[in-house]
Amino acid sequence: MSLDITATAAWQELRAHHDQVGTRHLREIFAEDPKRGSELTVTAGDLYIDYSKHRVERETLRLLIELARAAGVEERRDAMFRGDHINTSEDRAVLHTALRLPADATLVVDGQDVVADVHEVLERMGHFTDRLRSGEWRGATGERITTVVNIGIGGSDLGPVMAYRALRHYADAGIAARFVSNIDPSDLVSKLAGLDPATTLFIVASKTFSTLETLTNATAARRWLTATLGEDAVAKHFVAVSTHAERVSDFGIDTDNMFGFWDWVGGRYSVDSAIGLSLMCVIGKEGFGEFLEGFHTIDRHFATAPLEDNAPVLLGLIGLWYSSFFDSDSRAVLPYSNDLGRFAAYLQQLTMESNGKSVRADGSPVTTPTGEIFWGEPGTNGQHAFYQLLHQGTRLSPADFIGFAEPTDDLPTLDGTGSMHDILMSNLFAQTKVLAFGKTAEEIAGEGTAPELVPHKVMPGNRPSTTILAPRITPSALGQLIALYEHQVFVEGVVFGIDSFDQWGVELGKTQALELGPILTNPEAPAEQADSSTDTLVRWYRSRRGR
Ligand code: F6P
Repeated sequence: MSLDITATAAWQELRAHHDQVGTRHLREIFAEDPKRGSELTVTAGDLYIDYSKHRVERETLRLLIELARAAGVEERRDAMFRGDHINTSEDRAVLHTALRLPADATLVVDGQDVVADVHEVLERMGHFTDRLRSGEWRGATGERITTVVNIGIGGSDLGPVMAYRALRHYADAGIAARFVSNIDPSDLVSKLAGLDPATTLFIVASKTFSTLETLTNATAARRWLTATLGEDAVAKHFVAVSTHAERVSDFGIDTDNMFGFWDWVGGRYSVDSAIGLSLMCVIGKEGFGEFLEGFHTIDRHFATAPLEDNAPVLLGLIGLWYSSFFDSDSRAVLPYSNDLGRFAAYLQQLTMESNGKSVRADGSPVTTPTGEIFWGEPGTNGQHAFYQLLHQGTRLSPADFIGFAEPTDDLPTLDGTGSMHDILMSNLFAQTKVLAFGKTAEEIAGEGTAPELVPHKVMPGNRPSTTILAPRITPSALGQLIALYEHQVFVEGVVFGIDSFDQWGVELGKTQALELGPILTNPEAPAEQADSSTDTLVRWYRSRRGR
């Protein structure tokens, strides 16, 4: 039986506490507790995290920790690290943390040392990417491979795309990557533009090796390649990443050129498995090793730090504090780094596919809202787009600001005396300050503002944010950031009582698309198949396509 968290004393206490303090302003909270800016912070690995600009008091934090204990967060966390089958609806272990265990560790799950398995694949990946990067592995015409094209979708795409962009400074072997995911043919066509088949290697990445988009794109890519180089070229230009050797072989890729992983790695938790092969091709096995070490640093922190000083626990609990008690339904992720331009998109799958559930693990309906909606864009671009709503809108959307001390690139400012990176960071700090403290009507009127304009200019403040700072975007720092969010998702999921590791909700749309496909293309098929809206849309489409 899943625990109904709302029936616990810890929840009731939080509810009563919220009734007392929920409307208090951050100005008041900071005035009363002036040290919170330096004390409500936590360091995890290289990440310095300030959670003081949240509408939480020390008592709130105490009650949230009590809630985590009541929900059994520690026990569930230990069960995950141990390899228990905590993905109950699929009866699977959840062991992305094993992907980053050092080679000398051991973890026996279901009778198998998974660490040995992980390192065996990592070694094969390292050997392959060494050959590719050194030019020993050549294409069918004897030329060096200069572009890898990863074909995958969802978890087999978003992580590598995001990390490739974030770590572009670590590309050191003259290999570029492109990523094809969408069944929209414009994706493949535009990504193949300008490529030479002789210098291109395709990585077909699919956990199940049955995903329509990926297999369709891979087939089209293969046609593109063999049209110029012939069938025999496939062996030198196609490799696969999958858990399913038989399907890889049926597709025509030699399983010697396949890199495996396991059903205990969820797609959205797989960037640090062989799914990261495209990234390893670009940054090398040493860089990829540092990436894994970054994850592991936060895994250790999550597994061992007391809940009161545990970054993913605190941030997960604060996240659900807003969604459960303030009716907030979204969280903005605002990296002040253009290189993290795809980080929010990556987090959308990680967080929303994990926690977008309506029933608890035992199938009973949840009694709390679940699944924060994650969204965002890098700063400062977002400031000129949607921050108006964050500052003065009627909705409450807590925000995560992410920044780095050292720039990956820097240039002088307009007058040549400063650094553009300093301006970027001053914007980050200014935004969190204005969101929290705002500007009152009195302050605005005191500046001589015309009375009729005062209400328009009032900045209400009391808009919460977390600030996450790291020294620099390195493979390790990126791994740390990702793990920080992975474990927040876990904490929230445990409190909600849901299975954060299945994704049944994506299946029906796939099967219905397969059923509708022939109706769209066959003029003989009766259009009346579904409801009157879908039927009319299908008829509209068919008539435009002359069917
Ligand atoms: O449709 C959702 C999903 O199953 C994701 O969970 C997964 O990351 C993605 O599709 C791709 O799946 P695969 O790696 O098996 O091709």
